[in-house]
Amino acid sequence: MSGSPGITVKGQHRLGARVLFNTDLHIPGGQWTCLLGRSGVGKSTILRLILGLDTGGVFHGSFDATDGDPLTGRISYMAQSDLLLPWLSVVDNICIGGRLRGEVPWIARARDLLDRVGLSGHADQKPATLSGGMRQRVALARTLFEDRPIVFLDEPFSALDAGTRADMQELAAEVLQGRTVLLVTHDPAEAVRLAHQITVLSGQETQNWPVPDTTALRDINAKETLASQARLLAHLRGIAA
Ligand SMILES: Nc1ncnc2c1ncn2[C@@H]1O[C@H](COP(=O)(O)OP(=O)(O)OP(=O)(O)O)[C@@H](O)[C@H]1O
Ligand SMILES: [Mg+2]
Repeated sequence: MSGSPGITVKGQHRLGARVLFNTDLHIPGGQWTCLLGRSGVGKSTILRLILGLDTGGVFHGSFDATDGDPLTGRISYMAQSDLLLPWLSVVDNICIGGRLRGEVPWIARARDLLDRVGLSGHADQKPATLSGGMRQRVALARTLFEDRPIVFLDEPFSALDAGTRADMQELAAEVLQGRTVLLVTHDPAEAVRLAHQITVLSGQETQNWPVPDTTALRDINAKETLASQARLLAHLRGIAA
């Protein structure tokens, strides 16, 4: 997508008297950045800060789009919890963004995405009747349904079996090609497969980590992909929160 801006985030986030993290993060426009780091280090908090949502803390610093325009209304967001509305059917959950904006729901597109996440037979069910991995795929379809230049995905594949996860990575890479994507993950293999940029957050700094010299979406079995994910795992095990 042309015109997908980058984002810079620079500053310090505090929870009461405690400094949660210092960050100097540059998310390049039109590319995938995978954000990793220990549980509780503040990955979801960074997404919520940029989105203008409550984080329970205070951020001193700035976050800006590289094109200078406001970020408001240009980001679609898949939260760590699926946030499906229990009283709506699966297909109505996927269309909810458009409905809230007063648009005529684009049911054909919602059904097409539902088919592509492997849930075409479940359009009229309520979320409570689905498994955790099925719910996560509905939330993914809802996020892909939105046509925004910037997309935040917070552990979007965490509840999926390995085969479905690989399929959904491929779907997301195809649908979101050319957009600015910030993906939070704990999975080094996922990061190495998808990322143009890998960034590791610790309390002290944000550090970019080298990606293989091949084009994303990478072959899971390529030797440089496997070697890179092994090095990244060793690095993640060595860093403090
Ligand atoms: N609304 C809130 N009020 C107070 N503290 C919060 C709030 N939300 C998160 N925190 C705290 O901020 C810190 C970072 O949380 P965050 O959810 O960003 O971590 P994370 O890196 O995404 O972790 P995980 O990998 O487990 O999802 C944690 O110590 C958490 O307890
Ligand atoms: Mg999180």
